[in-house]
Amino acid sequence: MANLVITIDGPAASGKSTVARQLAQKLKAGFLDTGAMYRAVTLAAISAGVDMTDQDKLLEMIETTKFDFSIRDGVMAVRIDGLDVTDRIRQTNVTADVRHIASAPKLREKLVRMQRQFAAGQEKIVTEGRDQGTVAFADADMKFFLTAQPSERARRRQAELQAKGVNETLEQIQKAIEARDKSDESRSVGPLKPADDAVIIDTTDLTAEQVVEKILRCVEEKCLKKD
Ligand code: CDP
Repeated sequence: MANLVITIDGPAASGKSTVARQLAQKLKAGFLDTGAMYRAVTLAAISAGVDMTDQDKLLEMIETTKFDFSIRDGVMAVRIDGLDVTDRIRQTNVTADVRHIASAPKLREKLVRMQRQFAAGQEKIVTEGRDQGTVAFADADMKFFLTAQPSERARRRQAELQAKGVNETLEQIQKAIEARDKSDESRSVGPLKPADDAVIIDTTDLTAEQVVEKILRCVEEKCLKKD
């Protein structure tokens, strides 16, 4: 297991990935975007035409498919059977279908095992998702939970999509985000919720840099207390 594990959970477009990436760079730690794993499995299922409600078929597909997750230019790069799908896993159709994978208990178990394996290979790790502090790394050194108003999250996601040349209205985006929040919060396994010992940060009026600074201060204080 890594010597330092920091978890960052929170709802869609709350800034987790940007913050986790920057934090990992400052701490010279590994970075794990677990949403990319759920997205990769969803894309593989869509491409192979596997029934998304059949957990056993999906598990079989995971076993026979080669998923490769690595850090490239500070971003989580994803390959499926050698093919680079880093951009494709962010497409709207994948985002819409990911709930099938995220709510399947056997698949979550498998992905949590893969996440722990990934972390075991790193000396320090910043990992982000929905259940990192509650399930995957319940005894992490420090846990954070980022929130932000849905309208601000929709604005951030729109800017991200526009940068990729995708135009969607704020209303469409906010609706999709709220639907995903609902499904993430209500599933019976690994639901979106802060761990009891997580530090909750409302990022609505903060830049990513300000959030990273806040987290770094908490990490330093905790390390000082330990010394
Ligand atoms: O970037 P965004 O926050 O929109 O999504 P993401 O982090 O890429 O995650 C995509 C979806 O994967 C989420 O809506 C969850 O349903 C699922 N997920 C999960 O269930 N557990 C995780 N640890 C990470 C993601």
